[in-house]
Amino acid sequence: MTRRYLVTAALPYANNKPHLGHVAGVYLPADIYVRFLRMTGNDVVFVCGSDDHGVPITISAEKEGCEPQEVVSRYRAAQEEGFTSLGIEFDIYSGTSTCPGHGDLSSEFFLTNLEKGNIEARDTMQFYCQACRRFLPDRYVEGICPLCQAPDARGDQCDSCGKGFEQTLLTEPRCVGCGETPETRNTRQWFFLLDRFEDALREWLESREGWRENVKNFALGLLREGLPPRSITRDLSWGVPVPLEEADGKVLYVWFDAPVGYISFTRELFEKRGDPEGWRPYWQDEETSLVHFLGKDNILFHAVIWPAMLLGRGDFNLPANIPANEFLNFKGEKFSKSKGHGVTAEEILALYSPDRVRYYLTAIAPENRDTSFTWEDFIARNNDDLSDVVGNLCHRVFVFTDRYFDSKVPAGGERSEHLARILEVIAGARDSWRTSLEACRIREAVGAVVSLAREGNRIFDAAQPWKSRKEDAEGCGTDIASLLELVRAVALLLTPFLPESGKLLRGAFPDGDGLKSDLDALGERTLAGGDPIAPPGIVFPRLELAED
Ligand code: 2FM
Ligand code: ZN
Repeated sequence: MTRRYLVTAALPYANNKPHLGHVAGVYLPADIYVRFLRMTGNDVVFVCGSDDHGVPITISAEKEGCEPQEVVSRYRAAQEEGFTSLGIEFDIYSGTSTCPGHGDLSSEFFLTNLEKGNIEARDTMQFYCQACRRFLPDRYVEGICPLCQAPDARGDQCDSCGKGFEQTLLTEPRCVGCGETPETRNTRQWFFLLDRFEDALREWLESREGWRENVKNFALGLLREGLPPRSITRDLSWGVPVPLEEADGKVLYVWFDAPVGYISFTRELFEKRGDPEGWRPYWQDEETSLVHFLGKDNILFHAVIWPAMLLGRGDFNLPANIPANEFLNFKGEKFSKSKGHGVTAEEILALYSPDRVRYYLTAIAPENRDTSFTWEDFIARNNDDLSDVVGNLCHRVFVFTDRYFDSKVPAGGERSEHLARILEVIAGARDSWRTSLEACRIREAVGAVVSLAREGNRIFDAAQPWKSRKEDAEGCGTDIASLLELVRAVALLLTPFLPESGKLLRGAFPDGDGLKSDLDALGERTLAGGDPIAPPGIVFPRLELAED
């Protein structure tokens, strides 16, 4: 059945280039899922862009001695280029500081919730640095975590224990800019009263089916602890101004405006397409599925706070699924830009093709647990799976067809039992692939394709066509015709993961009726005797470890 989907990938802060940790956990799975949905005939809009506001950006600008907007434009361009170079294709890659209408829509979210009594002003105590003459929101202050005693906790949360707290609870606070101990001062902020949504959120979360257990349990766990009010404004000059006269000099908290970007970017996309109202069904028709891809550190915002903001508005869909991934580490440790630990898309693509990177990151996708990137494993998985199994199967079947059947599908044997069994294997692989991808389990899905190719190699070995062509020419023809069907299926099923190689391999066969019909037809005979085969040459040569 054809459905409508709005798929998002978490908006990366516009202060770094995508590294493979981000790609493996968020952007690549989202792209594969979108390609799968499209191949199976669904109507999809895929939205992303940069998260331009907030303290992460102002700190980078101060370090680089330039204006926030400069940091944003530089990194946004690099991000977009990085994603494109890996074949990650969004319908729009916008940004929260430049998208027309983004500030207005974020302000509307604030004002509607304020009118409904979901937001309230409170006088609070916040750190203020006398030397720097400013308040120190979020990452501008660091200290010892009041909950786990980690030494480098930030003002908004602690990376060691993953918890959030009021910044004034930090022990031994220091200003990140000048290292001085800040004082506390009174300042008025606006708070989102999350407890008002607890019942509705619980009911909604409990009724979700097919979600990853970690996401659902994490969100329900937070609800059990109770949701304290959260400050959604900051004393900063960079961001969406709080739309109230009395809030001069304050902006919305970056996490309040960022997810609104998913909607404002969709509106921008349809505006550009000359169909300004076209975005509405993607956000407002209940038949549309809204799917958010993100890393596990973003679950709180997407599974609790953002749905509360949407409930507070009342005129947009809630997420249908939130496939959050764990982290991909580099040699067992977190990727870290500041420590120069890890690999960027740019670095790896200077050495290897996008599909090789996509394959490895899919094969080790951090879906249920953290996984680790190593160069040795990158080479081994590519060689063991793609070169020795998939590439080898394609190559030997194509070479045999070329040499002994004049590059044509052998005729005859249409009703053989052997062929029927192979067609069943193909249909079975297609079905597991589909089930896994529907559930966003890309690692399992690509595994099903490699297993199908492995089965193809076993069939080839057992058939011994090099012998049978002399003893039983017709039987040999049937075996090769069946194996060509299998190779064609592998080419199709690989396509969402490896778009370039899939296309190259599909090009060996006569044109089908479009990807969806071709997929639906798997399990039936799709090639006729005499159909020409045009092999692409070696698609997956063995890789070698590049010198350091
Ligand atoms: O964690 C991050 O990198 C955030 N910039 C993610 C934002 S996702 C969304 F809500 F915009
Ligand atoms: Zn200071």
